[in-house]
Amino acid sequence: MIIAIDGPAGAGKSTISQRLAARLGFVRLDTGALYRAVGLAATRAQIAADDESGLHSLVAELALRFDAEGRIWLGEEDVSEAIRTPAMSAAASRYAAAPAVRAGLLDLQRRLARQADSILDGRDIGTVVCPDADVKIFLTASVAERARRRHAELAAKGPAPSLQEVAADIEARDKADRERPIAPLRQADDAVVVDATSLSIDEVVARCAALVDAAR
Ligand code: DC
Repeated sequence: MIIAIDGPAGAGKSTISQRLAARLGFVRLDTGALYRAVGLAATRAQIAADDESGLHSLVAELALRFDAEGRIWLGEEDVSEAIRTPAMSAAASRYAAAPAVRAGLLDLQRRLARQADSILDGRDIGTVVCPDADVKIFLTASVAERARRRHAELAAKGPAPSLQEVAADIEARDKADRERPIAPLRQADDAVVVDATSLSIDEVVARCAALVDAAR
């Protein structure tokens, strides 16, 4: 069984996917982490976001994998923390618009999804990566609420940008993700919208679990 959870930045996809995966005994596949890891590798290698052949080679050679704890590795390096900075959020979104990056990660995502009952969260899972997913959820929330949550998350880790800066980053990333020509962020026609603005995490998980139960 495949569950697709798409939606804009900061809507709570990670938390909800993790909780749902634990509850159902599914594997969670954080596809944003893949784009972030490519963004990190491309930034380090100083490859421009429009250098299609450079990005094609980079993605083809990247030894990208998740371990059993869901941590993400680039070769011998655990990059799980390094990919979570605001700079890497922006880099992921920028490099995610490159055709070579999207094509390179498409096969990998489909291969991983076939290995077990999976929950994939991202931007184009229900529309492009797994159009035949058994359940499609489009998880969203107001910009103000998403910024508040993301700000709290960053502040818990150390010195954080201001709430206004976080909101501006989120809006810029949404716009870039929605307006890119290939696989833009979009609700699949057959996705169910869950608006988390005024719901608790438990309420969102319960709603998503009910959708999964109905599909089984
Ligand atoms: O979900 P996230 O914030 O970790 O994703 C980081 C960026 O990666 C996001 O701004 C756009 C890109 N992304 C994508 O284009 N397609 C996906 N399926 C997942 C993420």
